[in-house]
Amino acid sequence: MSEHIPTRRAVKAVIPAAGLATRFLPATKAVPKELLPVVDRPVLQYIVEEAAAAGIRDILLITGRGKTSMVDHFDRQPYLEQRLKEKGDIERLAAVREPAELAEIYTCRQAEPLGLGHAVSYAESHVGGEPFAVLLGDEFMDEEDPLLPAMLDLQAREGGIVLAFIEVPREEVKRYGIASVEPTGTPDVVRVTGLVEKPDPAETPSNLAVVGRYILPAGIFDAVRRIKPGSGGELQLTDAMALMLEEGAPVHGIVYRGVRYDTGLPLGYLQAVVQLACKRPDLGPEFSQWLADFVREG
Ligand code: UTP
Repeated sequence: MSEHIPTRRAVKAVIPAAGLATRFLPATKAVPKELLPVVDRPVLQYIVEEAAAAGIRDILLITGRGKTSMVDHFDRQPYLEQRLKEKGDIERLAAVREPAELAEIYTCRQAEPLGLGHAVSYAESHVGGEPFAVLLGDEFMDEEDPLLPAMLDLQAREGGIVLAFIEVPREEVKRYGIASVEPTGTPDVVRVTGLVEKPDPAETPSNLAVVGRYILPAGIFDAVRRIKPGSGGELQLTDAMALMLEEGAPVHGIVYRGVRYDTGLPLGYLQAVVQLACKRPDLGPEFSQWLADFVREG
């Protein structure tokens, strides 16, 4: 399998954020779900911070119609900064500047939301022939339990595709892409032998659900060109990865045991806000106390 020789650690990431976010309507009619605030930072900032903490400083954001405000968040705001400076509000000044300092943000527009595989294919000329990370724009991992560094190291060692999984209760497998796997001898690292979308709980090959972090080789672009539209008439990234797997590309996965925040749906979004608010040194003690009283008193 000479085409899958291990390569250098990926240094670029792609964040597809051009979807319609139908599961969070009407909030997402005019506001991108990637900009919904979790405490006082938009979801997208947590994702860029996650990439930056893993050493990725070059990020291509795939945007779409009505989503250009996402890019503004990572721009400098000289007028606002000047006002904060004049007021001596050093803390807010640093907070306003931070997004622009995290990484180099490049953008590209997906003309029509024709699926995740289609969105990722826009990255071809930006990433060149190198492997790259994909971080979906509506979920992120707790900074105390990083996932990306281990994925990047594994891909540099093994080449091919590296996925991340969480263990889900069997009755929930029908909401996810599920993998069939073999052990590798390393705890929480598995070899992937198959991928199925949203299986029936009675027939599922495992309870390992694919989450929104991928390290992909450049060969994925050719695979996307060779697949046909799948479920929902969209070009599915899963189908392109399944094609590469079938053709012999190594596919590995890491079972993530940390806290994952899934903000693509109202319930997961609310859980993320509460969990992260409770952890904040400035808000946590007061908020947690209020929450405990609220739950007790109903
Ligand atoms: P989702 O499956 O969550 O789709 O996409 P969505 O449109 O964002 O949300 P729902 O399901 O309608 O509520 C996963 C990721 O892929 C991006 C989304 O922005 C999200 O970050 N995506 C999806 C694109 O960039 N383009 C697409 O055509 C589809």
